[in-house]
Amino acid sequence: QLRKAVIAGNWKMNKTPAEAKELIAAIAPLVKDATVDVVACTPFVDLSAAQEAAEGTNLQIGAENCHWAKSGAFTGEVSAEMLSAMGVKIVIIGHSERRQYFGETDVTVHDRTRAALDAGLTVILCVGETLEQREQGITNELCAMQTKIALGGVSEEELKRIIIAYEPVWAIGTGKTATAEQANEVCAAIRETVKELYGCAAGDGITLQYGGSMNAGNAAELLAQPDVDGGLIGGASLKPQDFAAIVEAAT
Ligand code: G3H
Repeated sequence: QLRKAVIAGNWKMNKTPAEAKELIAAIAPLVKDATVDVVACTPFVDLSAAQEAAEGTNLQIGAENCHWAKSGAFTGEVSAEMLSAMGVKIVIIGHSERRQYFGETDVTVHDRTRAALDAGLTVILCVGETLEQREQGITNELCAMQTKIALGGVSEEELKRIIIAYEPVWAIGTGKTATAEQANEVCAAIRETVKELYGCAAGDGITLQYGGSMNAGNAAELLAQPDVDGGLIGGASLKPQDFAAIVEAAT
């Protein structure tokens, strides 16, 4: 296979540390034979508990965001260095909920990506269009632009630690999934953008995920698309059987 398949759960603002332990303990045995990378991205306060529960399993634990500065007067924020110091290896950056509710912009997504890479983390970089933007016919250009801004200054070597998640905003948490063709079309456009920036081999090598109401029922068709290499899963990642079924569909 050309590139690594990665199935990542994004728990969003769900689960206490005790619940996180239970959920990891429930998921781990179900995905123990997975041949793809399996990640659970949890709230900051759950990271330690989740790491402890995941010890000795093939589940990797990631975070859902990080700040662009190493430290400083940024009340309520967590730096990439802090995540790295606690053994976290992967972080989601630029999720549409951060863009929508917390003033995240393409520039801050770029800055956070830079900080995460500098701290040695792998980044799941989220891009995607709103329904209005899709109806305006600017989906591919928009995702290309979000990708280009986020990756500004990222070296070809560093690109190996970037996963791009295409998440149409209208499909997130709505039960409305992009069709497999829509998902593939935009992922292909993102791959073209990466090829433009870094050359063919790098574009062919980058892992692209689809996210947005992916579930046990639709995962196989989405993941069978040539340019969809994995999934970023919200709601279904909180249900062990469903999450395991998605991992199975990727295997
Ligand atoms: O990061 C995950 C996405 O926002 C998808 O969420 O699977 O609940 O639609 P969802």
